[in-house]
This record gives sequence, structure tokens and C-alpha cells, in this order.
Amino acid sequence: MGSSCVVGLQWGDEAKGKIVDLLCDQHDVVVRYQGGANAGHTVVHEGVTYKLSLVPTGILRKGIDCVIGNGVVIHPPALLQEIDRLSAQGIDFGGRLHISDRAHVILPYHLAEERLTEESSSTADHLGTTLRGIGPCYRDKVGRVHGVRVIDLFHPAVFRDRLDRIINYKNRLLAAMLADFEPFDPRTVADEYLDDAETLRPFIRDTTAWLHQSLAHGKRLMFEGAQGSLLDIDHGSYPYVTSSNSSAAGIAAGSGVPTRHIDRWIGVVKAYTTRVGGGPFPTEQDNATGERIRRVGREYGTITGRPRRCGWFDAVAVRYSARVSGSTEIAIMLLDVLSGFDELKVAVAYEKNGQRIADLPASLADFDLCQPVYESLPGWSEDLTGVRHWSELPLNARNYVQFLAQQVGVPASIVSVGPDRRQTIMVAAGTRA
Ligand code: IMP
Repeated sequence: MGSSCVVGLQWGDEAKGKIVDLLCDQHDVVVRYQGGANAGHTVVHEGVTYKLSLVPTGILRKGIDCVIGNGVVIHPPALLQEIDRLSAQGIDFGGRLHISDRAHVILPYHLAEERLTEESSSTADHLGTTLRGIGPCYRDKVGRVHGVRVIDLFHPAVFRDRLDRIINYKNRLLAAMLADFEPFDPRTVADEYLDDAETLRPFIRDTTAWLHQSLAHGKRLMFEGAQGSLLDIDHGSYPYVTSSNSSAAGIAAGSGVPTRHIDRWIGVVKAYTTRVGGGPFPTEQDNATGERIRRVGREYGTITGRPRRCGWFDAVAVRYSARVSGSTEIAIMLLDVLSGFDELKVAVAYEKNGQRIADLPASLADFDLCQPVYESLPGWSEDLTGVRHWSELPLNARNYVQFLAQQVGVPASIVSVGPDRRQTIMVAAGTRA
């Protein structure tokens, strides 16, 4: 086996970090290719809980190299805080973290711009973002005139000069929109960022060249998606999406590595569905069922602490995202959370104006008209957290997993029944649906 990708197939928070951590043994390098500090992974490794945001999960494993690719957006103060926090927990970065010189940089005005658009927009336009400056930074990247890349921080005179012009422009714009706006001082911002750049210097390189060299030396890469495929800027529930290609579609652009190098395409799903922020969610249970899933699954955002919206598994949405992300196997996470329900529902189709539709609609108005068509399956009462083998799972739990896999059209290769790496069931190829 060579390289792999691990990508979420729902609206993020599918517990991808655990799968990446689990598969580290079979890889040499873990690569982040999109997003930024909007992502949050909680990984329990050898009994210790680590919270990761920008740093790839592989950093928890000795001997694994980690890459923050060109498609990621980096807020240097947040990254340094994360490095400090992980170092204080005993994680050794020694030569293992590689940050792209082409990645774009989040500046303080991006955070102000996002607060402005999120706080001043009407409820209907409010996206419910993580307020980490992700959208405004990607906007400047695509707009080009105001984009700042990591490499720019290593040309101080040019950077200072450019930042002066950018901040002058942003200050005028923000002052016109915000009553109590404190203008940014270009010199203070430049000083802070140039200082941070010096601390980060040992990690910065041309990561695309580095990755190609690694491949040439037979290293196995694992691409770690952040957010989920349904939040993809092109293929997700636009505009309620993030600003990057969070499906597997982003891998080549965000790392410079063609996807022909990938052998294993793993899609990660929860055994139910969650979503943070606004946007369509046909199987949402804004009732006691949703509350129970939230309570048992501890469904609160890793980064923002916001309660996640919870609902039944949506096979229509996952079938779609598995296709977009090219998944050939799925990992089903948090199955243990569903213990104790008499009945479990799975959306197998949508109905719009009395007609069955099999694909996700492009328009939000159409999405709102979609009613899920459910199939019900009997639940199980047993606690699953101690189960380690497929044959030990209650029959109804096995049937549930097989049903999800059949509906998505992709076999289930891994089932997770708790946060610890030991709480994992590998499904032998012969038993997969
Ligand atoms: P942004 O990525 O901060 O611009 O937020 C855009 C949308 O993506 C919002 O609905 C966020 O809640 C959602 N989002 C961003 N990152 C994550 C994540 O890591 N998990 C789940 N949702 C996320």
C-alpha cells in the first residue's frame, strides 16, 4: 500500500483525526492541504487528549513528518500558540513540521472583516463561520491584489511597503463600515508578523518539492482533509460552506501532488449527522432525539464550543460526497452513541413536491423543499464501547452498519466505538457489505 487520503463526507467533525492517527503506522508523512485554524481535531493518544487545529494529526507520532501545504491559510500567532501548546504536552517538532512558503497568511484585518460581514449580515445571510479569518483570507488570495503569502514575510522591506498600502486600503473600508473602528497600524502588524516569521523560519520550505522528493524516496503520504466534503466551496451546500475545497478535490491543488499517487481513498462519516453553523440539513432533529445525540456524542465544536446541530444519517448526502471525494471505503465513527435507541432512521432519498430525487439540489430554495424519505432500522441496547471485533457487535448494530454502506454504495472498512484508538473495529474485506 502507498499513499492514502482521509476525507470527511459530511459537514465536518467526523472524527477524521482518530482515523489519521490510527493509520499513521502505515504512512511516513501527513499532509494538510486546505482550510486553516477553523478545523479542530481532538485526538486521544496513549490516554492523553490533544487538540489540534492547523498542525497535522501525525505530529503526535514519533517519526512521522507533517506538511502544511500551499492550500492552507495560516494565522502565524495561532499556529505558534498551537506549537507551544503541543510542545508543552511533550510533542517534539524537531525537523518534522514543514510549512509551505506558498501558503497564504491570515492578517488581523481578515478577522475584523469577517466579524463585520457575520455580525452585520441579516439572519438570512449569516453563515455562522468560525470567525478565524478563513473566508476573507481566501478572498484576498483569489483577488490577488491583497494576498500575502508566507514567502513574503521573508522579504521584510517589500512586505512592509506592501502591507502599508494594503492596510491603508483596509482601514478606509473598515472605518466606513464600523462605528467604533480602531485603525490597524501597519508598522505594529509588520513587526509582529516578521517576528513570528523568524520563529517559524526553520519550518518553512517549498513543500511541493519536498513532497515529490519524499515520493521519489518511497515515502507513503496521507492527505488529511479538514472540514467535510459537504462544506466544499464548489461541491458543498453553497453558500453555507467553507472557502476551500474540503473534499478530496482539493488535494492536488492544495499540495502540488497529483492524486494518481493515492491508492487508498477513505471517507469518514459519523453514524448520524451533525452540522455547525447555518445551512440546509434535511435530517436535522431539532427535538429530543437531536438533544440526546448531542448529549451522548458530546457534540460541541472543538474550536468554537458551539452546540452542533444533530440528526439522522443522510445517505443521500453521503452518497453524493463519497462520489465527489472518490471514496472506495468508509470509516463509520461514533456508532456507540446510538446505543439505546429503539429505532434508527436513515434518509435514503429526498422527496420534493411529491417527486423522489436522488441527488443534492444546487439551489438552497430547492434544498428547503426536500423532505427526507426515511427507512427505519431496529436499534440495540448494548453498550458498544468495549467491542473490539465485528462478530461481537450486536446483530442490529451490524445490520445498521451494512445498511449505511449499501445505501452509500461504498463498503465500511472501519467502525469506531469510542475515542481511544483501541476502540476500533477493522471490518475484514469478506464481511463488508
Ligand atoms: P469558516 O470555515 O470559518 O469560513 O466557516 C464556514 C462554515 O464551515 C461554517 O458553517 C462553519 O461552522 C463550518 N466549519 C468550518 N470549519 C469546520 C470544522 O472544522 N468542522 C465543522 N464545521 C466547520
